[in-house]
Amino acid sequence: ARKIIIDTDPGQDDAFAILFALGSPEELDVIGITTVGGNVPLARTTTNALKVLELAQRPDIPVYAGCPGPTVRKLITAENIHGETGLDGADFPEPTTAAQSEHAVNYLVRTIMAAPEGELTVCTLGPMTNLAMAMTMEPRIIPRIREVVSMGGGFFEGGNATPAAEFNIFVDPHAAHKVYASCVPITMAGIDCTYTAQMTPGWINSLRDTGSRTATEAANLADFFRIYGSHKFPTEARPIHDACVTGYLLKPEIFEQRQCHVTVDISSPVTIGMTVVDWWHVTGQERNCNVLRRIDPEPFFALMAERIGSL
Ligand code: BDR
Ligand code: CA
Repeated sequence: ARKIIIDTDPGQDDAFAILFALGSPEELDVIGITTVGGNVPLARTTTNALKVLELAQRPDIPVYAGCPGPTVRKLITAENIHGETGLDGADFPEPTTAAQSEHAVNYLVRTIMAAPEGELTVCTLGPMTNLAMAMTMEPRIIPRIREVVSMGGGFFEGGNATPAAEFNIFVDPHAAHKVYASCVPITMAGIDCTYTAQMTPGWINSLRDTGSRTATEAANLADFFRIYGSHKFPTEARPIHDACVTGYLLKPEIFEQRQCHVTVDISSPVTIGMTVVDWWHVTGQERNCNVLRRIDPEPFFALMAERIGSL
């Protein structure tokens, strides 16, 4: 199985991404989870990661708390979307384990340096603060990473935090700029991609009908997550952003993709945090990013229900 580290700020859709990965042990080996301040403050994202593992009966996977806030700016959170706890709407079991004492950034550096070159994939589901810090602390990790698969950014759809910027990039644009400029192989699941896979009430019910406690709680989360966005989306269907990262790792062939040059704006007060995608290769700059543009929703949701339902 492909070894992955999940860097995350759970977060409703983060919980889906993690459960989807845990339900796919033949393809994915989640060796560790690192947390960051994002959707909710760090203490909550860390407890939430532990709760997700507890629900999935995988408390053996270590959790490392990372940076409480972004590199330069002040933390912006998103309780309006994820609820006060970050996992509102569901009743996850209290964790029976604690986070590790090692800092997430130290864990990333230690683990990537110790693994064979090109073995580890880092999935970022929140602001990229921890990964950028790890790259700053030990640049030799950069060529050792197999791939960074990141939920963040957007281009054709613009942004959800500002007209130009998606939330994860907007929270820590400086970190994202560092990672995109690092030359690490990176795949970007921005909101152009995640908006094309929307979960419907019918799908949520089919997930619940699989009958396991994990599937039931995931369905409860989804029902909460679905409340937000009525001003934006014409039907009751909603995107489940971070889960697209797991979907890509499992079935890359259901995504439309294009290699492009991507950079992150860190200097304009209007567009700070924008992922500037050179879709038409007009700059001639190196294509540093695999940009995911569209997803085939049917196989994606079928697989996610099956895998989360298996837990
Ligand atoms: C991203 O922002 C967060 O609120 C979600 O968890 C997701 O990672 C979507 O823009
Ligand atoms: Ca997230």
